[in-house]
Amino acid sequence: MIRIAIIIGSTRPGRKGETVAKWVYEIAQKRSDAEFEVVDIKDYNLPLLDEPMSPMLGQYTHQHTKTWSAKIASFDAYVFVTPEYNHGTSGALKNAIDFLYNEWINKAAGFVGYGGASGTRAVENLRLVMGELQVADVKAQVGLSLFNDFEDFSVFKPAPQQEKSVNTMLDQVIAWDCGGFFHAASTRRRAKPGRHLDNR
Ligand SMILES: Cc1cc2nc3c(=O)[nH]c(=O)nc-3n(C[C@H](O)[C@H](O)[C@H](O)COP(=O)(O)O)c2cc1C
Repeated sequence: MIRIAIIIGSTRPGRKGETVAKWVYEIAQKRSDAEFEVVDIKDYNLPLLDEPMSPMLGQYTHQHTKTWSAKIASFDAYVFVTPEYNHGTSGALKNAIDFLYNEWINKAAGFVGYGGASGTRAVENLRLVMGELQVADVKAQVGLSLFNDFEDFSVFKPAPQQEKSVNTMLDQVIAWDCGGFFHAASTRRRAKPGRHLDNR
């Protein structure tokens, strides 16, 4: 069974991201075609990138990087739950992504964006990043609007059709990952840690 991380992409006090990610997780839990786990980047206390070597080399010097690496390497695919900050994703999520390299590659990803404009530009920003990391990002995406999916811009009340859009996105992530290549590549990498570059 493939394992999918639902990654909370915001860290600020009072963030909406945690509620949104937990809603995605509840929908995902009704499925039987993958295993899901919420991963909160806040729990990893990552500073601004402080590794001396390129993450491509996987030569991590700090325990926080090693812990983050082990967690991300343990998944076959990712759902990024991203806020939109100034037409991009959050600095915290981009920083957490930048810490690693081989842990991400040859896997699949989907997105749940939220914000005043439904997080659309944050997801577009992440798609560029995914290209460099060789992550296959699916077309279907979830866009949650502060105007339509939150009461008074604060209480999360997703419109009824949003559950279907989460499942459509998950269908695509799971289909891509079960297609063989991505799953085989990530399983191979887990079996041979330290030989990541051979598998690109
Ligand atoms: C620094 C900052 C920048 C923002 N920039 C945008 C933006 O460019 N476009 C947008 O639609 N919403 C923007 N927003 C609104 C956020 O998307 C919205 O507040 C969202 O709830 C933030 O996610 P969080 O609560 O999980 O931190 C911004 C919010 C913050 C705090």
